[in-house]
Amino acid sequence: MKFVALEKIIAESSAMKKTMQDIVKIAKSHAAIFLMGETGTGKEVIAKNIHALSDRASNAFIKVNCAAIPESLIESEFFGHERGAFTGALNRRLGRFELAHRGTLLLDEISEIPLCLQSKLLRVLQEQEFERVGGAESIRVDVRIISTSNRNMKETVDQKLFREDLYYRLNVVPIQLSPLRERLEDIVPLAEYFLERLAEENLKPRKVLSAASKQRLLDYPWPGNIRELANVIERTVVMHTAEVIEPEHLNLDPYPSCALPVGKTLQELEKKYIIDTLAALKGNRTKAAEVLGISTRTLRNKLHEYQISLVS
Ligand SMILES: Nc1ncnc2c1ncn2[C@@H]1O[C@H](COP(=O)(O)OP(=O)(O)OP(=O)(O)O)[C@@H](O)[C@H]1O
Ligand SMILES: [Mg+2]
Repeated sequence: MKFVALEKIIAESSAMKKTMQDIVKIAKSHAAIFLMGETGTGKEVIAKNIHALSDRASNAFIKVNCAAIPESLIESEFFGHERGAFTGALNRRLGRFELAHRGTLLLDEISEIPLCLQSKLLRVLQEQEFERVGGAESIRVDVRIISTSNRNMKETVDQKLFREDLYYRLNVVPIQLSPLRERLEDIVPLAEYFLERLAEENLKPRKVLSAASKQRLLDYPWPGNIRELANVIERTVVMHTAEVIEPEHLNLDPYPSCALPVGKTLQELEKKYIIDTLAALKGNRTKAAEVLGISTRTLRNKLHEYQISLVS
């Protein structure tokens, strides 16, 4: 038996609070969940929490990284194989579906599985039974499926790289995790949580962030999301002895590559950036002006210029 402990999740932004409420609601059901979000946004940690909150918590949580398994091995990895099924199959081996019986199966980076296996997977999900590679016996399993992807699945389906019927079967409950730059209220609490964790691990007093460092963290777009933030904090703690962390200790890239759409005018980008910042801060103009590095008067003028009306 394998028990996945509840990992602490920081959720100060309204987007994350809503996600956490949704998770509590859906954890007890058997519905398939599809977690979408950029790299490092917390898909795996959320999946583990769903399992830990479900009535399957005392059974296995099994993860398959669909992008990491060679195409020739993926079927046997999923469904197992009988002895002698292929050259090198010296013993019977159970697949991830069988190992996850009565528990949760995390299909990580599901968009990467080859089309030929997608039809097999669809059949297994419909019938809840399968055969091991090289075997004739039908095996029934009871698994709760959680899939993740950091790709836009609608596009992947439109490009015919992913079966639409399989996507609908996996995506009964969609959960979209926002990028960190759109949930500004989580950034400082996450950084402080990582500082606290590092202090505990190293039995050292907890370092603190100066006001300017907090601002620097808020200004940075975090293309690698929470994983990148955790790494930046760890690097800072390792490299500097000062008790108070200043912006230069963070050593953040001034121009990180961040997925901005090419082909838009600067004005269009500015408008979108203002709207997104206000949305992330629940329409608080004073905080938004602070984050954008402009005065509230300039912000007011820009809202007027771009005809952005706020409903709050
Ligand atoms: N809300 C959160 N609170 C605390 N820690 C978090 C939170 N979200 C993510 N983390 C931590 O950030 C790191 C990255 O999270 P995770 O591995 O779940 O991301 P992911 O979306 O699965 O990334 P990838 O797409 O690259 O696989 C992990 O160490 C995780 O524990
Ligand atoms: Mg992951």
